[in-house]
Amino acid sequence: MAGMSVKELLGTAPKQQEVEINGWVRTFRSNRFIALNDGSTINNIQCVVDFENFDESLIKSITTGAAIQVKGILVESQGRGQNVEVQASDLVIHGEADADAYPIQPKKHSFEFLREKAHLRVRTNTFSAVMRLRSALSYAVHTYFQQNGFYYFHAPIITGSDAEGAGEMFRVTALDPKSPPLDDKGDVNYKEDFFGKETNLTVSGQLEAEAYAMGLGKVYTFGPTFRAENSNTSRHLAEFWMIEPEMAFFDLNDNMDLAEDFIKWVLKYVLDNCQEDLAFLEKRLLDEEKSKPQAERSDMALIEKLRFVADNDFKRVSYTEAIAILRNCKPNKKKKFEYLIDEWGADLQSEHERYLVEKHFKCPVILFDYPAKIKAFYMRLNEDGKTVRAMDVLFPGIGEIVGGSQREERLEVLQQKMQELGIEEEELWWYLDLRKFGTAVHSGFGLGFERLVQFATGMGNIRDVIPFPRTPQNAAF
Ligand code: 4AD
Ligand code: MG
Repeated sequence: MAGMSVKELLGTAPKQQEVEINGWVRTFRSNRFIALNDGSTINNIQCVVDFENFDESLIKSITTGAAIQVKGILVESQGRGQNVEVQASDLVIHGEADADAYPIQPKKHSFEFLREKAHLRVRTNTFSAVMRLRSALSYAVHTYFQQNGFYYFHAPIITGSDAEGAGEMFRVTALDPKSPPLDDKGDVNYKEDFFGKETNLTVSGQLEAEAYAMGLGKVYTFGPTFRAENSNTSRHLAEFWMIEPEMAFFDLNDNMDLAEDFIKWVLKYVLDNCQEDLAFLEKRLLDEEKSKPQAERSDMALIEKLRFVADNDFKRVSYTEAIAILRNCKPNKKKKFEYLIDEWGADLQSEHERYLVEKHFKCPVILFDYPAKIKAFYMRLNEDGKTVRAMDVLFPGIGEIVGGSQREERLEVLQQKMQELGIEEEELWWYLDLRKFGTAVHSGFGLGFERLVQFATGMGNIRDVIPFPRTPQNAAF
């Protein structure tokens, strides 16, 4: 039944051999040429039909979107655009696709329209290319870490702790929402809930990964994470996949070296292994850019941009240096930024990050040593007492793609910090244990997988690089 894939067939030398192929009809031209695709490659196989040899009703069923099987002979193609084609001798319709109702017609559909048809959009060239790249990037992520002595660690999805301390969590409960048990104060009594305590979907596997790094040495997570932040932007999802390596005996410099090497390696992997899809996406982007004003067009085409990032050093800049640059830059002085930078300590918004990357340095930037006040509780305090060993990797067109740090390994300093922030020691007793028993310098980071896929594919909206996006007011499918 399965036969050969279109990809295999297109790489086969035509010797008049019998072949069998299954796929979905992309187009059917002149009642004669079927462009068939099965998702194995961006390219279609052309199947040539002599309609006189088939039932009229069968020919009528060959419409865009129909699933069919073609048996025939593989020959050198007479036409341009492909090397081989199938001369059909036998046709089977697996499933018709009513031409009046099937939404994915061979014409340009907007991405907004296709988001409403997320169950069918993978049958377009753009989405199939993006999803194949997503798959290749996942493979590259695992390959990189597995080849470099890391162990794949599965962090729990349901947790009791808020790793980032931002309070943006989805609650997990088995209580009846209509009549939950109440305590003496009239609050919901989570002691009676499934886990006997409040639990949430994880925002990050980091804290648990730290425990495992302090035993396995080098670990990484690669799994879904959840954030109930109400950010309706082209870079935020409520459910996204994060890659979080965590390494014992790594300081911040080792951490930055790893992040840079890792990102470059996975980009090289797709440059080497996904050429056809990248070429298609690059062309798509160039077409899209033609409709933009000159100033908004990027100066590099997709593949050139990926190669540039893979081959050049990232610029490493301290937060303090970055603030000096931003304070004196044109858009700040001319009040063009939405959030003006006037003081050390200001949190950086994506407009500032993108200015640094796209206008000032014109390359990926790693910012480090941020003010303690704007970063999470677990980051290691510097000797100056006001900055922490944090690092963010900033990318052109994306902004922050990685956030990480060296972790606070000193028990008293961590306890002090938790006290300042009102984090109960009982909640994180086990995390404090890691500092009591065999503590050591350690570091890690989190890379937002969809932001990486966005960068590698040139897709502008994060909703278009994950199969079924979850965003505020949207969990269809
Ligand atoms: O900077 P963040 O919040 O860092 C952490 O969660 C750390 N615990 C990671 C660590 O050190 N192990 O998130 C890490 C990355 C961001 O840089 C961004 O790329 C991505 O996760 N990210 C999101 N991606 C899509 N949608 C969202 N809502 C995201 N929030 C963060
Ligand atoms: Mg961050």
